[in-house]
Amino acid sequence: MLEAKVYIVGAGPGDPELITVKGQNILKQADVILYTDSLVNEQLMEVAKSDAQVLKSAGMNLEELVHCMITNVKQGRSVARVHTGDPSVYGAILEQMRYLKNADVDYEIIPGVSSVFAAAAAAQIELTVPELTQTVILTRAEGRTPMPEKERLRDLANHHSSTCLFLSTTLIKKVVREFLEAGWLETDPVVVVYRASWPDQKVVKTTLGQLDEAMRAEGIRKQAMVIISKAANEELLKEEGKYESKLYDKSFTHGFRKGESVNG
Ligand SMILES: C[S@@+](CC[C@H](N)C(=O)[O-])C[C@H]1O[C@@H](n2cnc3c(N)ncnc32)[C@H](O)[C@@H]1O
Repeated sequence: MLEAKVYIVGAGPGDPELITVKGQNILKQADVILYTDSLVNEQLMEVAKSDAQVLKSAGMNLEELVHCMITNVKQGRSVARVHTGDPSVYGAILEQMRYLKNADVDYEIIPGVSSVFAAAAAAQIELTVPELTQTVILTRAEGRTPMPEKERLRDLANHHSSTCLFLSTTLIKKVVREFLEAGWLETDPVVVVYRASWPDQKVVKTTLGQLDEAMRAEGIRKQAMVIISKAANEELLKEEGKYESKLYDKSFTHGFRKGESVNG
Protein backbone atom coordinates (compact mmCIF):
# COMPACT_ATOMS: atom_id res chain seq x y z
CA MET A 1 0.00 0.00 0.00
CA LEU A 2 1.20 3.49 -0.81
CA GLU A 3 2.03 5.98 1.91
CA ALA A 4 -0.30 8.94 2.25
CA LYS A 5 1.78 11.51 0.42
CA VAL A 6 2.05 13.13 -2.99
CA TYR A 7 3.84 11.23 -5.76
CA ILE A 8 4.88 13.59 -8.54
CA VAL A 9 5.06 11.15 -11.44
CA GLY A 10 6.62 11.68 -14.86
CA ALA A 11 4.18 10.14 -17.36
CA GLY A 12 6.61 10.07 -20.27
CA PRO A 13 6.04 11.72 -23.64
CA GLY A 14 2.73 10.12 -24.67
CA ASP A 15 3.07 6.41 -25.48
CA PRO A 16 1.59 4.72 -22.38
CA GLU A 17 4.40 2.15 -22.48
CA LEU A 18 6.95 4.90 -21.89
CA ILE A 19 6.06 5.51 -18.24
CA THR A 20 8.49 3.88 -15.78
CA VAL A 21 7.51 0.66 -13.99
CA LYS A 22 7.69 2.60 -10.73
CA GLY A 23 5.43 5.34 -12.07
CA GLN A 24 2.88 2.81 -13.30
CA ASN A 25 2.91 0.96 -9.97
CA ILE A 26 2.02 4.22 -8.28
CA LEU A 27 -0.86 4.81 -10.71
CA LYS A 28 -2.13 1.30 -9.92
CA GLN A 29 -2.21 1.97 -6.18
CA ALA A 30 -2.94 5.68 -5.74
CA ASP A 31 -6.21 6.73 -4.07
CA VAL A 32 -6.31 9.97 -6.04
CA ILE A 33 -4.79 10.68 -9.47
CA LEU A 34 -4.48 14.23 -10.72
CA TYR A 35 -3.22 14.45 -14.27
CA THR A 36 -2.47 17.15 -16.82
CA ASP A 37 -5.13 16.14 -19.32
CA SER A 38 -3.88 18.50 -22.03
CA LEU A 39 -0.65 16.52 -22.44
CA VAL A 40 -0.74 13.25 -20.49
CA ASN A 41 -2.19 10.19 -22.26
CA GLU A 42 -5.55 9.26 -20.72
CA GLN A 43 -4.84 5.57 -21.40
CA LEU A 44 -2.37 5.62 -18.51
CA MET A 45 -5.33 5.97 -16.13
CA GLU A 46 -6.73 2.58 -17.18
CA VAL A 47 -4.60 0.90 -14.50
CA ALA A 48 -6.11 2.98 -11.68
CA LYS A 49 -7.96 1.15 -8.88
CA SER A 50 -11.71 0.95 -9.47
CA ASP A 51 -12.35 3.20 -6.47
CA ALA A 52 -9.58 5.70 -7.24
CA GLN A 53 -10.59 9.29 -7.81
CA VAL A 54 -9.16 10.34 -11.21
CA LEU A 55 -9.15 14.10 -11.78
CA LYS A 56 -8.07 16.27 -14.71
CA SER A 57 -5.94 19.25 -13.76
CA ALA A 58 -5.82 21.39 -16.92
CA GLY A 59 -8.81 23.47 -15.80
CA MET A 60 -7.55 23.95 -12.21
CA ASN A 61 -5.47 26.83 -10.93
CA LEU A 62 -2.50 26.31 -8.62
CA GLU A 63 -4.47 26.93 -5.42
CA GLU A 64 -7.19 24.43 -6.40
CA LEU A 65 -4.56 21.90 -7.37
CA VAL A 66 -2.57 22.05 -4.16
CA HIS A 67 -5.72 22.28 -2.03
CA CYS A 68 -6.86 18.99 -3.57
CA MET A 69 -3.48 17.33 -2.93
CA ILE A 70 -3.12 18.64 0.62
CA THR A 71 -6.66 17.78 1.83
CA ASN A 72 -6.47 14.27 0.41
CA VAL A 73 -3.09 13.50 1.97
CA LYS A 74 -4.21 14.96 5.33
CA GLN A 75 -7.20 12.58 5.17
CA GLY A 76 -4.82 9.64 4.78
CA ARG A 77 -4.96 9.17 0.99
CA SER A 78 -2.10 8.74 -1.51
CA VAL A 79 -2.09 11.20 -4.41
CA ALA A 80 -0.38 10.71 -7.78
CA ARG A 81 0.23 14.04 -9.45
CA VAL A 82 1.01 13.11 -13.05
CA HIS A 83 3.07 15.38 -15.29
CA THR A 84 4.02 15.01 -18.93
CA GLY A 85 7.55 13.84 -19.81
CA ASP A 86 9.89 14.35 -16.89
CA PRO A 87 8.57 16.63 -14.14
CA SER A 88 11.86 18.50 -13.73
CA VAL A 89 11.77 20.06 -17.21
CA TYR A 90 9.21 22.87 -17.60
CA GLY A 91 6.99 20.96 -15.20
CA ALA A 92 6.07 23.92 -12.94
CA ILE A 93 6.57 21.67 -9.92
CA LEU A 94 8.55 24.13 -7.79
CA GLU A 95 5.48 26.11 -6.75
CA GLN A 96 3.54 22.91 -6.01
CA MET A 97 6.38 21.58 -3.85
CA ARG A 98 6.56 24.92 -2.02
CA TYR A 99 2.87 24.70 -1.06
CA LEU A 100 3.23 21.06 -0.03
CA LYS A 101 6.28 21.80 2.09
CA ASN A 102 4.53 24.71 3.81
CA ALA A 103 1.59 22.42 4.56
CA ASP A 104 3.96 19.76 5.91
CA VAL A 105 2.87 17.26 3.25
CA ASP A 106 5.51 14.78 2.07
CA TYR A 107 6.18 14.30 -1.62
CA GLU A 108 8.38 12.14 -3.81
CA ILE A 109 9.32 12.64 -7.45
CA ILE A 110 9.34 9.75 -9.93
CA PRO A 111 11.27 10.68 -13.09
CA GLY A 112 9.89 10.15 -16.57
CA VAL A 113 11.08 9.97 -20.17
CA SER A 114 11.24 13.56 -21.33
CA SER A 115 9.85 14.45 -24.76
CA VAL A 116 13.36 15.54 -25.71
CA PHE A 117 14.53 11.93 -25.57
CA ALA A 118 11.39 10.57 -27.23
CA ALA A 119 11.99 13.11 -30.02
CA ALA A 120 15.65 12.09 -30.43
CA ALA A 121 14.53 8.45 -30.56
CA ALA A 122 11.85 9.18 -33.17
CA ALA A 123 14.37 11.09 -35.28
CA GLN A 124 16.95 8.32 -34.75
CA ILE A 125 19.76 10.64 -33.74
CA GLU A 126 22.50 10.62 -31.14
CA LEU A 127 22.58 14.07 -29.57
CA THR A 128 26.21 13.74 -28.49
CA VAL A 129 28.51 12.79 -31.32
CA PRO A 130 32.27 12.69 -30.51
CA GLU A 131 34.27 15.57 -31.96
CA LEU A 132 31.08 17.21 -33.28
CA THR A 133 29.08 18.06 -30.19
CA GLN A 134 29.34 16.72 -26.67
CA THR A 135 26.84 19.02 -25.04
CA VAL A 136 23.05 19.17 -25.09
CA ILE A 137 21.28 22.41 -24.28
CA LEU A 138 17.64 22.13 -23.21
CA THR A 139 16.01 25.51 -23.55
CA ARG A 140 13.17 27.52 -25.06
CA ALA A 141 12.69 30.68 -27.07
CA GLU A 142 11.69 33.75 -25.14
CA GLY A 143 7.93 34.20 -25.23
CA ARG A 144 5.76 35.39 -22.38
CA THR A 145 8.23 33.82 -19.94
CA PRO A 146 11.31 36.08 -20.02
CA MET A 147 14.71 34.45 -20.41
CA PRO A 148 17.40 35.22 -17.82
CA GLU A 149 19.94 37.74 -19.15
CA LYS A 150 22.74 35.16 -19.42
CA GLU A 151 20.56 32.63 -21.28
CA ARG A 152 19.71 34.57 -24.42
CA LEU A 153 19.19 32.16 -27.28
CA ARG A 154 21.91 33.79 -29.36
CA ASP A 155 24.44 33.30 -26.54
CA LEU A 156 23.44 29.67 -26.12
CA ALA A 157 23.57 29.15 -29.90
CA ASN A 158 27.14 30.46 -29.82
CA HIS A 159 28.22 27.16 -28.24
CA HIS A 160 27.15 25.25 -31.39
CA SER A 161 25.94 22.42 -29.16
CA SER A 162 22.90 20.23 -29.80
CA THR A 163 20.07 22.56 -28.82
CA CYS A 164 16.62 21.21 -27.99
CA LEU A 165 13.85 23.74 -27.87
CA PHE A 166 10.70 23.19 -25.85
CA LEU A 167 7.67 25.50 -26.03
CA SER A 168 9.02 27.34 -29.05
CA THR A 169 6.97 26.35 -32.09
CA THR A 170 5.26 29.73 -32.42
CA LEU A 171 8.56 31.60 -32.18
CA ILE A 172 10.48 29.86 -34.94
CA LYS A 173 11.35 32.90 -37.04
CA LYS A 174 13.04 34.45 -34.03
CA VAL A 175 14.85 31.19 -33.25
CA VAL A 176 16.25 30.96 -36.77
CA ARG A 177 17.38 34.61 -36.70
CA GLU A 178 19.26 34.13 -33.42
CA PHE A 179 21.00 30.97 -34.62
CA LEU A 180 22.08 32.57 -37.89
CA GLU A 181 23.37 35.60 -35.97
CA ALA A 182 25.38 33.22 -33.80
CA GLY A 183 27.14 31.85 -36.90
CA TRP A 184 25.07 28.78 -37.76
CA LEU A 185 24.50 28.16 -41.47
CA GLU A 186 21.18 28.06 -43.30
CA THR A 187 22.16 24.52 -44.36
CA ASP A 188 22.67 23.28 -40.80
CA PRO A 189 20.33 20.41 -39.89
CA VAL A 190 17.20 20.69 -37.76
CA VAL A 191 14.69 18.02 -36.75
CA VAL A 192 11.20 18.85 -35.57
CA VAL A 193 9.26 16.12 -33.83
CA TYR A 194 5.56 16.72 -33.37
CA ARG A 195 3.87 14.64 -30.64
CA ALA A 196 6.78 12.25 -30.22
CA SER A 197 5.63 8.71 -29.41
CA TRP A 198 1.91 9.42 -30.05
CA PRO A 199 0.15 7.64 -32.94
CA ASP A 200 0.03 10.92 -34.93
CA GLN A 201 3.75 11.66 -34.42
CA LYS A 202 5.49 13.54 -37.24
CA VAL A 203 9.24 13.79 -37.80
CA VAL A 204 10.33 16.64 -40.04
CA LYS A 205 13.98 16.71 -41.10
CA THR A 206 14.96 20.07 -42.49
CA THR A 207 17.54 22.85 -42.28
CA LEU A 208 17.70 26.14 -40.41
CA GLY A 209 16.98 28.06 -43.60
CA GLN A 210 13.91 25.92 -44.40
CA LEU A 211 12.66 25.46 -40.85
CA ASP A 212 9.84 27.99 -40.76
CA GLU A 213 8.45 26.90 -44.11
CA ALA A 214 8.75 23.19 -43.29
CA MET A 215 6.84 23.60 -40.03
CA ARG A 216 4.18 25.68 -41.75
CA ALA A 217 3.80 23.08 -44.50
CA GLU A 218 3.25 20.37 -41.87
CA GLY A 219 0.90 22.56 -39.83
CA ILE A 220 3.05 22.21 -36.69
CA ARG A 221 2.16 24.93 -34.19
CA LYS A 222 2.33 23.17 -30.83
CA GLN A 223 3.51 20.08 -28.97
CA ALA A 224 6.74 19.80 -30.89
CA MET A 225 10.41 19.50 -30.03
CA VAL A 226 12.81 21.44 -32.23
CA ILE A 227 16.32 19.95 -32.26
CA ILE A 228 18.97 22.11 -33.88
CA SER A 229 22.12 20.05 -34.04
CA LYS A 230 25.03 19.20 -36.29
CA ALA A 231 24.43 15.65 -35.05
CA ALA A 232 21.07 15.58 -36.87
CA ASN A 233 22.85 15.30 -40.21
CA GLU A 234 21.93 12.00 -41.92
CA GLU A 235 25.21 12.10 -43.88
CA LEU A 236 26.96 11.14 -40.62
CA LEU A 237 25.51 7.63 -40.96
CA LYS A 238 27.55 7.17 -44.12
CA GLU A 239 30.88 8.47 -42.81
CA GLU A 240 32.45 5.25 -41.59
CA GLY A 241 35.27 5.66 -39.07
CA LYS A 242 34.43 9.30 -38.36
CA TYR A 243 32.97 10.70 -35.16
CA GLU A 244 33.05 7.34 -33.38
CA SER A 245 33.11 6.98 -29.62
CA LYS A 246 36.21 5.42 -28.05
CA LEU A 247 33.96 3.22 -25.90
CA TYR A 248 33.81 0.36 -28.40
CA ASP A 249 37.10 1.05 -30.16
CA LYS A 250 39.07 -2.22 -29.97
CA SER A 251 42.35 -0.42 -29.17
CA PHE A 252 40.85 1.58 -26.30
CA THR A 253 41.34 0.32 -22.72
CA HIS A 254 38.81 1.21 -20.04
CA GLY A 255 37.63 -0.10 -16.68
CA PHE A 256 35.75 -3.05 -18.18
CA ARG A 257 37.89 -4.04 -21.16
CA LYS A 258 41.59 -4.14 -22.10
CA GLY A 259 42.20 -2.74 -25.56
CA GLU A 260 44.05 -4.79 -28.19
CA SER A 261 47.38 -3.50 -29.41
CA VAL A 262 46.93 -1.65 -32.70
CA ASN A 263 50.05 -3.38 -34.06
CA GLY A 264 48.48 -6.84 -33.78
C1 LIG B 1 5.30 22.30 -20.53
S1 LIG B 1 6.51 21.54 -21.48
C2 LIG B 1 6.63 20.03 -20.65
C3 LIG B 1 7.87 19.23 -21.00
C4 LIG B 1 7.90 17.88 -20.30
N1 LIG B 1 8.10 18.02 -18.88
C5 LIG B 1 8.96 16.93 -20.86
O1 LIG B 1 9.90 16.54 -20.14
O2 LIG B 1 8.84 16.56 -22.03
C6 LIG B 1 5.64 21.21 -22.95
C7 LIG B 1 6.54 21.21 -24.16
O3 LIG B 1 7.24 19.99 -24.20
C8 LIG B 1 7.36 19.55 -25.53
N2 LIG B 1 6.63 18.29 -25.65
C9 LIG B 1 5.87 17.68 -24.72
N3 LIG B 1 5.44 16.48 -25.16
C10 LIG B 1 5.92 16.35 -26.42
C11 LIG B 1 5.88 15.30 -27.39
N4 LIG B 1 5.22 14.16 -27.16
N5 LIG B 1 6.54 15.50 -28.55
C12 LIG B 1 7.24 16.63 -28.80
N6 LIG B 1 7.33 17.63 -27.91
C13 LIG B 1 6.69 17.49 -26.74
C14 LIG B 1 6.79 20.63 -26.43
O4 LIG B 1 7.84 21.49 -26.79
C15 LIG B 1 5.83 21.31 -25.49
O5 LIG B 1 5.64 22.65 -25.87
